[in-house]
Amino acid sequence: MEALIKKLVEAYGPSGDEAPVRSLIEEEIRGAVDRTWTDNLGNLVALREGPEPLLMLSAHMDEIGVVVTHIDEEGFLRLAPVGGVSPHLLVGQRLRFKEGFTGTVYHEKLKSLKELDWSKLYLDIGAVDGASAREKVGIGDAACLDQPFAVCGGRYLGKAMDDRIGCAVLVETARRLSRELPQAVAFVFSVQEEVGLRGATTAAYQLKPGYGLAVDVTRVGDTPKAPLSAVGLGRGPAVKVKDSSVITHPLVRKFMMETAEEKEIPFQLEVLERGGTDAGAIHLSREGVPTGALSIPCRYIHTPSEMVDAGDVRHAVELLTALCLKPWPRQKVLD
Ligand code: CO
Ligand code: ZN
Repeated sequence: MEALIKKLVEAYGPSGDEAPVRSLIEEEIRGAVDRTWTDNLGNLVALREGPEPLLMLSAHMDEIGVVVTHIDEEGFLRLAPVGGVSPHLLVGQRLRFKEGFTGTVYHEKLKSLKELDWSKLYLDIGAVDGASAREKVGIGDAACLDQPFAVCGGRYLGKAMDDRIGCAVLVETARRLSRELPQAVAFVFSVQEEVGLRGATTAAYQLKPGYGLAVDVTRVGDTPKAPLSAVGLGRGPAVKVKDSSVITHPLVRKFMMETAEEKEIPFQLEVLERGGTDAGAIHLSREGVPTGALSIPCRYIHTPSEMVDAGDVRHAVELLTALCLKPWPRQKVLD
């Protein structure tokens, strides 16, 4: 699975420009499902046919990035964020455009780093003047972080673990489901999550799922002086209780916890005070969809080096596989 994760996290795919990631995933998952298609917004759907209720799994393909807003006569580029990017984290970082060329980010002279905002930041792509810069890039072109994947002890480091690790978990799960399924499963690789859960909104409308599950990263509280959180790396994937976009349907939460217990898969419970996932969009589709989320604990989210635990990833695949193979309740009862 490491080779798949490396391929996915190193791919280029800021929100709205996910095509390179989509073709990679399509190639990887095609043999494991009945059919795949890309919808009007660019979501990739890979369907395993089966009886109702349809289970919609969603992991987002897009990553945070920047977009070019201005090119000056010296050839320096000015930038705006795509998704939740901090200008402080970009200083000294390399950024890569879809065509493959890179540049480095720095800032104008400042009295203190506190003054640093997007207006003080620029990208140097090695152009000698504005005209040569404009030959390579235009206003509106996007770029993503440029960091190689690395194995670091029992952990994985890379840009865009949010949420290519979720994409990798979905692909690996699809590959393990060789036998007949008790219900249809749609593996959705959504677009534009980082700018407001947009792809999952239309994908859920299209698929009319009986149940929804987002697979995404979540914040942890196990680093020095981190904000208080009960989630840590290496203690298993997390069953989401709530975040600011969704309160997990009690039936889904119970079903997930019982399945993990039956299979003796370690898991944690996650209460995220800020942040959302595709589950936020799915559960509000049409007349409402009981939805939950399986989270991969992740350190340093939205930085160039996001860190996840290899064991958590493995256990997430095991739990998701078990959740696809177990018949979901037909009757939606709240208890
Ligand atoms: Co994110
Ligand atoms: Zn995410």
